[in-house]
Amino acid sequence: MKQRWEVTPASRVSGELRVPGDKSISHRSLMLGGVAQGITEVQGFLASADCLATLDALRAMGIRIERPGETQVRIHGAGLHGLQPPQAPLDMGNAGTAIRLFMGLLSGQSFASTLTGDESLRRRPMERVANPLRLMGAQIDTQDGTPPVRITQARDLQGIDYVLPMASAQVKSAILLAGLYAKGATRVTEPAPTRDHTERMLAGFGLLVQRDGARVTLAATGARTLRGTSLQVPGDISSAAFFLVAGCLAASPRLTLRGVGLNPTRTGIISILQLMGARLRIVPVADAGPEPIADIEIEASPLRGIDIPEELVPLAIDELPVVFIAAACAEGVTRVTGAGELRVKESDRLAVMAEGLAALHIRHELLPDGIAIEGIGSKGRLPGGRIDSHGDHRIAMSFAVASLRADAPIHIEDVANVATSFPGFDAAARAVGLSLVAR
Ligand code: S3P
Repeated sequence: MKQRWEVTPASRVSGELRVPGDKSISHRSLMLGGVAQGITEVQGFLASADCLATLDALRAMGIRIERPGETQVRIHGAGLHGLQPPQAPLDMGNAGTAIRLFMGLLSGQSFASTLTGDESLRRRPMERVANPLRLMGAQIDTQDGTPPVRITQARDLQGIDYVLPMASAQVKSAILLAGLYAKGATRVTEPAPTRDHTERMLAGFGLLVQRDGARVTLAATGARTLRGTSLQVPGDISSAAFFLVAGCLAASPRLTLRGVGLNPTRTGIISILQLMGARLRIVPVADAGPEPIADIEIEASPLRGIDIPEELVPLAIDELPVVFIAAACAEGVTRVTGAGELRVKESDRLAVMAEGLAALHIRHELLPDGIAIEGIGSKGRLPGGRIDSHGDHRIAMSFAVASLRADAPIHIEDVANVATSFPGFDAAARAVGLSLVAR
């Protein structure tokens, strides 16, 4: 039977929490460490199903990776040309970042490989990555645009000057990783800023990466050798987001989140909640390294509905499901547009969130590229109900937060995939005051 949660109403959250490491940064640390020269030590690694899929794939290509502790990883890099041909298709599970970034990395190899994944991943679009890689000279086949993805032995790749048709850090990163193997410079121009972890990390491994407005360039000249390094992975703001909203709804006297990554390309959730009236205090952690880190204190705050500025959408793309819960509890209407990318995430997050909001009797209007949600206000209550997460981790965790304003239990179905990004969410939620039981 599918795993589910019963979340009974709770009225308050408090205390301190350290959320697990950042998923995007954990994937990248493994991949870059694997093709670096020498050892890369990673602290704060996210040992979730998604990142372990990346780890297993690298091991299947001959990379030695030690796990001295749950969140520590030691990667014995084999150099840019040191990966070995895998003996079987590489299974990325639920991980969109893993499959797309590997498409870039494996396009440059002198062997063929096949990338596949679970049922959800096998529905997701891969041509957005395959197209620019083909322009660089890669040989890639998809199945009607979706996985399995077959990469045939590369001829020499050429650099590219590519304008992304959508704001996607995964596509940008795949192109940059292929660029490591290309002749000439590789340039990517973004329609809007997206997470820049790949750029920061490539620089941390000693490569020259330039940013000029919306354009990022992996230089034509200079060494392409990545040097093994030490990395501290910050807490994942995408995981912190559930507790930021929980705190806005019910923190008393306060909830403190420790060691959260606050890279400015990821902080859309903070800006959105502040526009809605959230009382947050941000205390930067000194000497954090290339990725800024802070502690965040939250107090319960009456929220108001807003029109979410479209430029914040890519900066909060994974946090929008829980923003919809904040909107459902706010005074007035919250409207988000320009968020069509939500339809091609682990689920169609616009449709699946709308279905869940309907189950909790929240009035809303689904738009082609967004949603308008009429909140119940700070005195309103939710009735409880049954939510189908459709196997989407972030949908499941978002509706758990709604229990802070509910009068009756919320039953959330199909929650096993929470382990793809936030293993231990249930215990963390209970530790700060949510009343969540796994069934
Ligand atoms: C990610 C980029 C985003 C995000 C995903 C992680 C990354 O996807 O939704 O969870 O690590 O680069 P898109 O690039 O498809 O927007």
